[in-house]
Amino acid sequence: MNIALIGSGGREHALCLNISKSKLCKNIICIPGNAGTAKIATNIAVDFLNFKKLLKVLRSNKIELVIVGPEEPLVKGIVDFLKKNKIRVFGPNKYAAKLEGSKAFMKNLCRKYKIPTAQFKICKNKRDVESFISKSKLPLVVKADGLAAGKGVTICKSKKSVTSISNEIFKGKFKSSKKLVLEEFLEGEELSYFLIIDRFGYKFFGSAQDHKRVGEKETGPNTGGMGAYSPATILNKKLERKIIKRIVEPTLSALKKEKNPYQGFLYVGLMIKDNEPYLIEYNIRMGDPECQVIVPRIKTDLLKILNEVASNNLNKIKIQWNNISCMTIVLCSKGYPGKYQKNKIIKNLQKIRFKKNIFVFHAGTKLLNNNFYSNGGRVLNITATGKVFKNLRKNIIKTIKKINWKFGFFRRDIGWRVIKNK
Ligand code: AMP
Ligand code: GLY
Repeated sequence: MNIALIGSGGREHALCLNISKSKLCKNIICIPGNAGTAKIATNIAVDFLNFKKLLKVLRSNKIELVIVGPEEPLVKGIVDFLKKNKIRVFGPNKYAAKLEGSKAFMKNLCRKYKIPTAQFKICKNKRDVESFISKSKLPLVVKADGLAAGKGVTICKSKKSVTSISNEIFKGKFKSSKKLVLEEFLEGEELSYFLIIDRFGYKFFGSAQDHKRVGEKETGPNTGGMGAYSPATILNKKLERKIIKRIVEPTLSALKKEKNPYQGFLYVGLMIKDNEPYLIEYNIRMGDPECQVIVPRIKTDLLKILNEVASNNLNKIKIQWNNISCMTIVLCSKGYPGKYQKNKIIKNLQKIRFKKNIFVFHAGTKLLNNNFYSNGGRVLNITATGKVFKNLRKNIIKTIKKINWKFGFFRRDIGWRVIKNK
């Protein structure tokens, strides 16, 4: 099969590496890809949001299945467009993608179907904000309604900051929407729970915990994710049943009722308090860096799974897992998630011999004259598999030291919840 993979992060490198090894895979193109995918596939630098141009590339490369990594093309309707043009594609359509594309849509769905989530108000103006503040306790969470490249959520400890951040959103800080969701702050432990779904059913697709704050001990601003590990030890059978019954099933049946059944990966972002799940957010794709710690644990041929889901044959597949743990630490450009420099050579990466149980997924990198250069905030995902999280972290940090990239930084405390004694 000829495959096209949309995206350029560590998530896409992880998917690409796995798919490229499948017996079913003839050719794989990455649009646009990164330096990691350039070594195992063909990168094509076309703007994937320009659907017409993209279609030309897909047709000229005789693509038989498109796999979409990031949320933006999904929210903008890439699946509807490709299906209309008779191209097979894995991912949710534009309507279902509103689960991530509009926080207001997702929260209204929670209200209608009594899905447990933080108390909230959808606000269109200052009056709405004032009325919610007057009824609620601090801290409060302000969320831009539309896609905001990971920058749309702020946890506010004072009424003043709720007001000022809300005003910025009303003035159009984010192009995607001028609405916002104001909600109560949930205490607890976060869990990323994944499913793979087609028109007729769903299957578990791994669990993980990531670390969103830039600083050690969970301090500083939110990022796309500084590291992750899988499986998430907080998940147990009883909790899983609650997640499925109270959150996942009402959501999937609501979408079916609206004649837009879900297909693709679903990332259920949860807060767990006293073994009770609350929905924080839905993402309509794999997580990044969660994908990088889930994919190495799958035993079943991933391309076979994705291909069957694209034909609504998930029930034919049994997904099997390797009984191992996996951890990844993100090596970032200094300054991230604020301003950082690009185009910095990563010299030592070429010299390191990676082993079967420790390897690197590229994220913000590019290949120039056969050298690796940084090209983003999150640059490399150093990843290890094995039995004991503590040893995985030790090996990853050893490898990062060998890479010794002076323009980078990373968190040394990834997995602190599962590595209590240092
Ligand atoms: P979201 O884009 O909704 O996932 O929010 C990004 C991150 O902000 C989440 O992963 C949580 O760490 C945090 N967050 C969002 N909403 C809440 C909430 N209601 N209570 C506590 N933390 C939250
Ligand atoms: N790691 C968080 C996300 O992918 O949204």
